[in-house]
Formats: sequence, C-alpha cells, structure tokens
Amino acid sequence: MFESLSLPRPDAILSRIASFEDDPRANKMNLGVGIYMDAQGKTIIPETVKLAEQRLLDLEDSKSYIGLAGNPAYNKAMREIVFGETVPEGRIHGMQAPGGSGSLSVLAKLMERACPNAKVWLSTPTWSNHAALLSTGGLEIGKYPYFDATTCAINFEAMTAKLRTLGPGDVVVLHGCCHNPTGANLTREQWDEVAGIAKATGFLPLFDIAYQGFGDGLEEDAYSVRKFAHTVDEMLVAVSSSKNFGIYRDRVGCAFAMGACAETTDVAYANMQSIARSMYSMPPDHGASVVSIIWQDDELRVQWLSELKVMSDHIASLRNQLATSFVKQSGDNKFDFIGMHRGMFSLLGLTIEQVEKLREDYGIYMTSDSRINVTGVQGENIDRLAGAVLAVSV
Ligand SMILES: Cc1ncc(COP(=O)(O)O)c(C=O)c1O
Repeated sequence: MFESLSLPRPDAILSRIASFEDDPRANKMNLGVGIYMDAQGKTIIPETVKLAEQRLLDLEDSKSYIGLAGNPAYNKAMREIVFGETVPEGRIHGMQAPGGSGSLSVLAKLMERACPNAKVWLSTPTWSNHAALLSTGGLEIGKYPYFDATTCAINFEAMTAKLRTLGPGDVVVLHGCCHNPTGANLTREQWDEVAGIAKATGFLPLFDIAYQGFGDGLEEDAYSVRKFAHTVDEMLVAVSSSKNFGIYRDRVGCAFAMGACAETTDVAYANMQSIARSMYSMPPDHGASVVSIIWQDDELRVQWLSELKVMSDHIASLRNQLATSFVKQSGDNKFDFIGMHRGMFSLLGLTIEQVEKLREDYGIYMTSDSRINVTGVQGENIDRLAGAVLAVSV
C-alpha cells in the first residue's frame, strides 16, 4: 500500500530547525523557531510550572481517564484568562484539546459539520500551519489582505473592504494578539470596527490566540476577543497555553464555541466532544492540571503573571534594541516597525534570495518569508543581525 505514497512537502519551520542543527558555524543564529528564548538563549521551564508540577506529583492519586472535554478546572481557567468577566452566561463552553493546533483542528471539524460549504478566510500572510489545520474537512480556504510588505504595516482599508463583502457561511480567522508572522496588530479602534463589520455582515469570527501576555499584557492582549464576545452572536476561539505557560511539549490548548443561546451552544459543545472522540478521544492531562493549579492558587498566579511580564519585557527590550541598531547602522528609520510590533515575530520584508543569503553568508536562519523570532537574538548578535540584513538588502 505504501508504494502509492509520495513524500510530503517538508514543514517550512521544522525543516529550518533541522538545517540549523547541522550548521557547524559557532556564530549561527536561529530566528526561525516559534519558541520564546531568554537572555541566555534558553527556553526554560517557568518556576511556577515547576512548583505546580511538584504539587501535582504529590497530590495526583489516579491516572484514570478524565473525559472528552479534558480538565474542567483548566477550561474554567482559560475562560477567565481569555474572556475575563465578559463571558455571556451559558453561551460559551471551552473544551481542552492538544495545544492550539488541536483546538483549531476540532473547530475545523465543527465548522465542517455545521456548514460543509463554509469558506475559511485567512489573513495574508498568516501562520504557516493555519491552512493545513483548517482545511482538513475539505473546507475551502480564502485569503483576505492584511499586511503590506512594502510599508511593513497593516493595510486596514484593504482588509476591511474585503471583510465587508463576506457574510454568513464565511469564517474569518483573526489573530487575537501578536500576529504571527507579522507582529503587526490592529489598534483597539480597528478591532471595534472589525467587530462591527462581523455583526453587520454575519461572518463567523474564529480567533486564534496563542501569545496572550506576550504583547501589551494578559488583559490588554485579550481586548479583541472580549470585544467580539460582546458584539457578535456566535464565535469560535482556539487558545494555546504552549507559549505563555512555557509548556510547549505538554500539548495544552482550549477550543471555545460561543453561540447565540444556551441551547445551540450546548449542541455545538456536544459536537466538539464527539469530534474529539473520533480524533484522539481525550486530551493529555499533565499540562492542563499544571495550569489549573497555577491559576487557582493566589500566590502561584501572581508569580506566573510576573514571570510572564519578564518574558514580555524581554521581547519589548529586544525589539527596541534591534530597531535602534538598524537606525544606528543605516541612518534611516525603515526598520522602526520592529519596535512598534508586538509578540515574538516580525516580518522583515526581505525576498527569498535575501533570506537565503543571510543563511549562506552569515549563518542567520529565518523562515523564507523573512519572519524573525526576536528572542532568537541576544547581546552582540543584535548589531550583527541588523548589519547583515542591511548588507543583503542593498
Ligand atoms: C498563531 C498560532 N496559532 C496556534 C499555534 C499552535 O500552538 P500549539 O503549539 O499550542 O499547538 C501556534 C504555534 O506556533 C501559532 O503561532
């Protein structure tokens, strides 16, 4: 049977990691991966996660199955973190899933059940795995304008002009904060406008929020989702706990469905659970228990919030240092957008050839669309990166 198979196209990000590992140069830089690195270039386990794991080890007295919806305390924690007090009573349910990716997959299948002819609209550009995760059910994929690579800013006019042409049967994927790969986010006023368009046209918003707390703060980064929760009747939200809790490999996320009334929301939730049953049955518990222990304990919660703040301050500081280095070495402010963007990523607006030249001549690795993870650069490498980018872009 396997003779009929051909090799799949390698994953753009994962294949970059492999070629970086094989590069013998000591001063190589890996800006391609989507994980947070501290000032020592390490992806450490947060102290609060370690403490919660210790408690879990002491307290856990059974490893029996937990249920299709996963850990209820985790789902409640995610609801509080993402939606705060704004949740419409009875109209929203969250189901733990394997990571943000697993949450997106469950929601794709839910959309397919609810509306097999739905068209899913992705921003141009978007996270490289969105199309694969969201077209699994055969849902059609469309693209809406978002980022203008010449100005390295959002083309809001083109974006909203496209969104105004959509309606029921269209699903619009929105990045809750810290847009991947561009780092360019809508302002609050712009979110208000887009929420108004969703309400007026009837398209279904699907939020992907994978970096809450990496931008302007835990509450601030949830503005978009909360605004929509207030404004529209139905929405879907995929949450990842991989980044802000630093538990990437534990595979923890949450899929939310918000409906127009409690009855339809309950039916959507029952469908999500039956979808999970047919995909992986039940999600892994370890990371979800860790998150719920942290969130329920006043001391651990405060400590986690301060660890999260250290991460977002580090990101902001690197962005400012990099933008300053560009100004210092070029004399112009073309790369100032790096200081203004939020989250780990920025798109530098380079061509594939320029990206290849950075890899070959300087050992600087980024994805072929010129996305960099700013936490991959430290110390003197900041000036080296800016200098190399300027050298290949003349
Ligand atoms: C925008 C976006 N959504 C979702 C995910 C998925 O995260 P997880 O590792 O929790 O599946 C990522 C991970 O890189 C991401 O960048």
